[in-house]
Amino acid sequence: MDEKRLFSQALAARARAYTPYSHFAVGAALLCADGTVYTGCNIENAAFTPTVCAERVAFFKAVSDGHRDFAAIAVAGAPEGTAPDSLCAPCGVCRQVMAEFCRVESFRVLLGTTPEDMRAYTLADLLPLAFSGDML
Ligand code: THU
Repeated sequence: MDEKRLFSQALAARARAYTPYSHFAVGAALLCADGTVYTGCNIENAAFTPTVCAERVAFFKAVSDGHRDFAAIAVAGAPEGTAPDSLCAPCGVCRQVMAEFCRVESFRVLLGTTPEDMRAYTLADLLPLAFSGDML
């Protein structure tokens, strides 16, 4: 899967974001090791804390379908109705969920504004010294 195409899928997923409170729409596209792609959007809630980020929606859809091996995730976010003009960095909770299932040194996190204006980080870049199940 071409990473530019993955980023386009994250941009497209933003259209389905449910954001009546923040009005900030995020889309994510998660590439599984077997090539399957799961998209996600943020889904907000009047009680605020049940809100789920786009990245976790993509992960939980994939894991609940039986996937546990992942290569990359693309993330795009901006106020709803506008195109991204800066990168949308995954929140700490989403980074921790990524660390549960991904090798931090090789899992790629694609951030940016367009397929032509994105760069790949590793999860280790975003979550150094991650807490993991190995420590339990
Ligand atoms: N959000 C995401 O979905 N992903 C991120 O990477 C950052 C934040 C959502 C959560 C909430 O619905 C809105 O953006 C504002 O925080």
